[in-house]
Amino acid sequence: MLYAVFGNPIEHSRSPTIHQLFARQEKVDLIYEKRLVTHTLAQALHDFENDGGLGANVTVPCKTEAFELSSQLSERARMAGAVNTLFRLPENQGWYGDNTDGIGLVRDIQRLGVSLHDARILLLGAGGAARGIIYPLKEAGAHISIANRTFSKAQELSDWFNIQAIEFSDITPSFDMIINSTSASLNQQTLPIDNQVFANAVLAYDLVYGDTAFIQQAKQAKTALCVDGLGMLVAQAATSYALWRGFEPDIEPVLETLKKS
Ligand code: ATR
Repeated sequence: MLYAVFGNPIEHSRSPTIHQLFARQEKVDLIYEKRLVTHTLAQALHDFENDGGLGANVTVPCKTEAFELSSQLSERARMAGAVNTLFRLPENQGWYGDNTDGIGLVRDIQRLGVSLHDARILLLGAGGAARGIIYPLKEAGAHISIANRTFSKAQELSDWFNIQAIEFSDITPSFDMIINSTSASLNQQTLPIDNQVFANAVLAYDLVYGDTAFIQQAKQAKTALCVDGLGMLVAQAATSYALWRGFEPDIEPVLETLKKS
């Protein structure tokens, strides 16, 4: 039983560790590899299929190509325009493409005991990461305003998902949750937002994991819950695993193990 994660770079992916911990819960032996995509994902997947691969995760920069080569798509993958989970269909029907990033975030926020129903969310950033999470957050009942450095990109997502777009300079402290989907955290860059923006927020969530500049700012602003993306990472993986195997892993013990390592 062969599974893998595809991307470039891939060396630091924590997906193999996570999926092996899930397999231990299910009490099965499976192989979960890291596969570096040097040319096209299509080529890498072709090799994987020949090796008997059953399911795959897809990460940066291959999620759009995964979307394009899927022969069937889940609604959330269609809305995101990106696929992070592939499941091989029987009888040479190709790959089923899903996107579990957004539902992973929703599940993690619910795990934290925060309700998304009627929650006012400020989403920072309008790149691929934002695109992947908006539809499931809306489905969970949230009202989303999106702000982005390049405003035209926020407007594009605003039109596609029917959410509000606002300028960074127009952000008011009227949000219950602030979600950072920008890649600023990866470079420890700060965002052009004032601490006041966090004044009424119960949750500040960074899709990136680690002690990011955004998380540090949210702590300074005394936001009750300041959370990085590790829980989302485990929850999106759990949703992928359930799709492949029909077994729903328990997220909490896996998260605890990862926090210790
Ligand atoms: P990803 O797939 O991680 O979302 P992306 O599609 O390149 O990556 O998008 C990166 C996002 O982070 C964009 O919204 C980008 O803003 P721009 O559209 O204006 O480029 C945002 N971003 C990156 N660095 C930033 C910074 N220092 N300040 C504000 N926004 C930043």
